[in-house]
Amino acid sequence: MASENADGTYSPSEEYRKRTYIDSYAKYEEMYRKSIEEPEEFWTEQAENLDWYSKGWKKVFDWNKKASTFTWFKGGKLNACYNCLDRHVEGGLKNTAALIFEADEPGNSRVYTYGLLLSEVEKFANVLKSKGVKKGDRVAVYLPMIPELAITVLACARIGAVHSVVFSGFSTDSLFNRVQDSDSKVLVTCDGSYRGGKTLDMKGKVNEMLERETSVDSVIVVKHTGKDVVMEDGRDFWWHEEMSKADLKCPCEQMDAEDPFFILYTSGSTGKPKGVLHTVGGYMLGVTITFKYAFDYRPGETHWCTADLGWITGHSYVLYGPLSNGATTLMFEGVPNYPDNGRFWEIVENWKVDIFYTAPTAIRMMRKSGDEWVRKHDVSSLKVLGSVGEPIDSSVWKWYYEVVGNGRCPIADTYWQTETGSHIILPLPGAWNQKPGSAMKPFFGIEPVILNEDKTPTPVGQDGRLCIKKPWPSCARTLWGDHEKYKETYWNPYPGYYFSGDGARQDSDGDIWITGRVDDVISVAGHRIGAAEVEAALIAHPAVSEAAVVPIPDEMKGEAIYGFVTLKNGFEDSEELRNDLVKQVRNEVGPIATPKTIQIAEELPKTRSGKIVRRMLRKIASGSDFRSMDASTLVDPGVLDDLVKGRR
Ligand code: WTA
Repeated sequence: MASENADGTYSPSEEYRKRTYIDSYAKYEEMYRKSIEEPEEFWTEQAENLDWYSKGWKKVFDWNKKASTFTWFKGGKLNACYNCLDRHVEGGLKNTAALIFEADEPGNSRVYTYGLLLSEVEKFANVLKSKGVKKGDRVAVYLPMIPELAITVLACARIGAVHSVVFSGFSTDSLFNRVQDSDSKVLVTCDGSYRGGKTLDMKGKVNEMLERETSVDSVIVVKHTGKDVVMEDGRDFWWHEEMSKADLKCPCEQMDAEDPFFILYTSGSTGKPKGVLHTVGGYMLGVTITFKYAFDYRPGETHWCTADLGWITGHSYVLYGPLSNGATTLMFEGVPNYPDNGRFWEIVENWKVDIFYTAPTAIRMMRKSGDEWVRKHDVSSLKVLGSVGEPIDSSVWKWYYEVVGNGRCPIADTYWQTETGSHIILPLPGAWNQKPGSAMKPFFGIEPVILNEDKTPTPVGQDGRLCIKKPWPSCARTLWGDHEKYKETYWNPYPGYYFSGDGARQDSDGDIWITGRVDDVISVAGHRIGAAEVEAALIAHPAVSEAAVVPIPDEMKGEAIYGFVTLKNGFEDSEELRNDLVKQVRNEVGPIATPKTIQIAEELPKTRSGKIVRRMLRKIASGSDFRSMDASTLVDPGVLDDLVKGRR
């Protein structure tokens, strides 16, 4: 068992070094240097990891800084579904497991070989076509973690339709906004879903949404829980009936590398979620090579990423990255603590998982439930562990390393975002010693720079804002229907750089430590929630005059939501009202955005220009000393004392 070095780092074991692709810092440095100094050559070589119909690009990379537009491999032709399925079927993996589905209820699993998955995808691609879906059309997908979700998005990729997956835990309103913004004509959903032994409604929520005027003409419904649902003739179709009629073969559409691939909505600092758009070539290249290097994937291994496909981690590392590499990927419908706290480890044991990738929130939960749950199971198949979504505290890192990995498995603490498409900062597991809690070094082609608010470089050891020099292949190209907002959010704040929205610092070894969001995004259990979205939901309540929500530290979820609300005349603070406000947010945004605390206030701290000073509210909510802050910009500094007194 490898243990902590004197300097607090952990070295990869000799055994691990044999497995890794990049087995020394020098090798990483050589590849990294090439990716920065000769990017065209580097990326042309890396493009060999994909199958192309034509490598007819004139320029590998073309960037119009002023317009904040750029292209990678424009003119090259490929298909993402071909790269994930057909090429492996042709290459000898036809009867190898592509997708293992582990249901919420233990014992209900299904395994799709590459051959079977391909034939299901071809049939469903024909179903989509029969509903009028063509290249470039948007298809909204509102499904829990069941194989039909993977089949749907791969079928879209096959025919060049742009998928827009909406997390199944989002409410009717959130679904409505996303469907309308993407102008989706077809929606794929199911009757209901399972979660921790409970059955949840899905079709009812869809029906409620469709009572409004929407862009949707056809709804395809998977029968999953078998509950009774209301189907509308001519609009709603059962998945199984459509599949039984569908033609078996469907050719792949030859897509330009720069054609739109998918939209995924994420939260930003405004109320409206942003439709992050990825393109086929750059995204596929990013996920294919990061999957290979971040986890040292070796043919025949089983990979399990616990993320939901409703988030980018699910897109990139449940689906596209592993399948593009010909891996066996595991898809889990359930939760870590059902039927008991050992569920994750039971799955690892049963399926002999090699690569396990999860979020610090889940790791904290496991740690709290006790080491015995891990010890009950044989998890010795694990070779490498991954962490994503939030900064991982060094004590949590050590628990993960020692108890889950038994001191044998390096941890890839992968930093990235919906917008970056694939990992951008991470410790390559076999290349150097790891530092618990640090995302460490940039991936190939990524030049991180930490800047002060005044745009000067931040000195070593000090907190600043994480920016990236130059676009990389899997960087989002635009926000759906709003390129101005894309420019304004990512490229204008620090001209010439991509602005991540995260704080970071670099230590004297040049290693990067991510410190969390510096904008109004709250990370609840690693899920991005826009403060503005929650505020908009609160303000929609008849009693509310103003609302400001801020993150507070939470032992389990990393961050929780704390809301300050002022009431309209005639309304008074009561527990009932506060509960009602919480309910309002759950209904309008979804249960993941449930505020932990609501504080009713007389007034909120504002500047003379009327801006609410969230910085101060953050301090008050988390009980830290707000007196050190400069309150001179406030119209009435006296409100702070009242807020502190009213803290809940
Ligand atoms: C945070 C998830 C620290 C960060 C892939 C980022 C992390 C946001 C890490 C993106 C990490 C992600 N260490 N923080 N390893 N990975 N984050 O778009 O704040 O859902 O901006 O993508 O998660 O969340 P998103």
